[in-house]
Amino acid sequence: MQNDIKEILISEEEIKQKIRELGKQIEKDYKDKDLLVVCVLKGAVLFLSDLIREINLPLSIDFMAVSSYGNSTKSSGVVRIIKDLEKDIQGKDLLIVEDIVDSGLTLSYLIENLKSREPRSVRLCTLLDKPEKRKVKVSIDYTGFVIPDEFVVGYGLDYAEVYRNLPYVCVLKPEVYTN
Ligand code: IMP
Ligand code: MG
Repeated sequence: MQNDIKEILISEEEIKQKIRELGKQIEKDYKDKDLLVVCVLKGAVLFLSDLIREINLPLSIDFMAVSSYGNSTKSSGVVRIIKDLEKDIQGKDLLIVEDIVDSGLTLSYLIENLKSREPRSVRLCTLLDKPEKRKVKVSIDYTGFVIPDEFVVGYGLDYAEVYRNLPYVCVLKPEVYTN
């Protein structure tokens, strides 16, 4: 796996430090709220598990799985809910936790869908923001890192379902994609 890596973009230490900052900020903002953290599967799983340990508040978590891609690797704009939340979110203060916002199509669909269920508030926290390929405007409340338009893996993010367990965010060698 390590042999496939071209460059580490964000180190383990940088991720840790940033999550500590995000956690403290979220903790402040949600002091007297009814916080429900919604993790978008599967990419945001590592981020969620580290982030919630930096938020010293009573909170609950739930999971959603969506697919924005048809058969190709490009965003199609067609978003499908593969797994929905377990519980009703009416009156809850939702914090959506996502791995990366790229075109924004997945998130804008998801946010509209969740808003229609009448939570008290909805905010978005993303580890990575890739603004160059944005197709629809998405308002991000908490951002870990803004990155250039490169395909990245690690710390939850995959290529063909592999590399999610790398503890840092990196770029793969070009030959990995062509093989
Ligand atoms: P969007 O709808 O284009 O914003 O796509 C968001 C989803 O595409 C993310 O949740 C990721 O699963 C995937 N994605 C976008 N860019 C990358 C990347 O650089 N590496 C891995 N997955 C990515
Ligand atoms: Mg994903």
